[in-house]
Amino acid sequence: MATCPMTGKGSNALSSLMSDNPRYAEMFDVGSQSANVGVDGDRDYTDAMNALRDAAPVHKGSLRALLGVPELSHSMGPPREEMTFFSYRACEIGFRDNLIFSSEGYNESPGVKTIGPTILSMVGKPHKRLRSAAQSLFKRPKVIDWWNKRWIEETVDALLDRLVGQQTADLNFELCARLPMATVTRAIGLEGEDVIEFRYQLERATFGAAKLPPEEAAASRAWIDGTLRGLITENTRDPGDNLITGLLAAEIIDEEDGIKRRLTEDEIFGYCKLAIFAGGGTTWRQLGIAIDALMTHRHFWEACRDDRSLVDAAVEESLRWRCTDPMMPRLCVEDSVVEGVEVPAGTRVFLCFGAANHDPAIFERPTEYDIFRRKQANMGFGFGPHRCLGIEVARQEMIVAINGLLDRFPNMALDPSKPKPEYRGLEHRGMTGVGVKLQ
Ligand code: HEM
Repeated sequence: MATCPMTGKGSNALSSLMSDNPRYAEMFDVGSQSANVGVDGDRDYTDAMNALRDAAPVHKGSLRALLGVPELSHSMGPPREEMTFFSYRACEIGFRDNLIFSSEGYNESPGVKTIGPTILSMVGKPHKRLRSAAQSLFKRPKVIDWWNKRWIEETVDALLDRLVGQQTADLNFELCARLPMATVTRAIGLEGEDVIEFRYQLERATFGAAKLPPEEAAASRAWIDGTLRGLITENTRDPGDNLITGLLAAEIIDEEDGIKRRLTEDEIFGYCKLAIFAGGGTTWRQLGIAIDALMTHRHFWEACRDDRSLVDAAVEESLRWRCTDPMMPRLCVEDSVVEGVEVPAGTRVFLCFGAANHDPAIFERPTEYDIFRRKQANMGFGFGPHRCLGIEVARQEMIVAINGLLDRFPNMALDPSKPKPEYRGLEHRGMTGVGVKLQ
């Protein structure tokens, strides 16, 4: 691995984060990501989703069909009846009743299948067992004492220190894209240029594979497997201070004989790939959304500057107001009735929690960004048994990043000479840019 020969981390590890490797631009562009999946890059779909929720809590049809967006052929699996839940109540049921609205539906998605078996597509006790095995590595104390000290603070400092002295910057690219990718990739023990290479190859090996000649996708899969296997071997021989060593030490109660065992190599692979997928793009886009929200609601930026304890609420409200991923799929496996609507077994269900997060039955003035609003659970990180495992990591990254900006650039403002940041995308939403004047 390309680790720093002196310390295994530090300047060498971080210098690649500052590089102008063209893969950053290739991988972190909301506009081209939308175009690649047939989504109108000039449109914000929020109002249309909210209008559908106001018309009825549950609709027949996929979210795409209801919004008039072309379906991606076979992206979700074989043809099925489809329905979309829009109200808070309906999404709550869809998330909570996982044995009825099953996450096993992910197994039909060719893209998700390429990641291999992970907790994302498991249900019931097997899901609980495997999730519990790793849970302590993602809990708040571990995030504050370990993730934060080991990776997050150092990365934020390095990324922001290099902006000091500059007049302007696109934070979406310079900070938001680089921080989460570095956090999750370094957490599995990669450093240097491997940080970006791993994310790039993983995309080609999985969701991007359909667009590539099969031999190129296979080469990326081999690269990922070889790298992960190498890391596991290295950490087995010589335990490190990283997520793989943590996963190697984790214990799970075996389903067959009820005896405690260590995780298999496949289970560790699954966790590593999922952490990088689930934790890279999401936090990039959500951090951009949160910073833009504070820039366009200046009084809240100033309030956070005066009272840093408010940064937490600013981040949480961004997840309600504009959650980056507004929809997750499920497979209904038992005839059900939700909000008075029959949902037959075999229906593919889309939980549009982006609309649920604006449900006026739950949230007052739902379309307003207000960091002082009454605390109520929003679904930006999902809900129920599959609620995001990396919540505390993501929150900490965003809180440290915003505090870092407040420390160094207290008078920062949107740069009027740059294109106005737009909120774009459908299944993965984010800002087109966050161009700011730093001083
Ligand atoms: C702002 C950033 C993030 C957002 C908005 C987000 C959102 C979500 C959502 C909505 C789910 C639920 C999926 C479902 O119900 O089908 C989820 C699951 C998950 N997330 Fe995150 N996530 C973020 C960051 C992270 C990070 C940083 C990590 C890891 C370091 C992570 C790891 C996971 C994992 C492992 C799952 C699967 C949990 C399970 O199936 O039990 N996420 N995430």
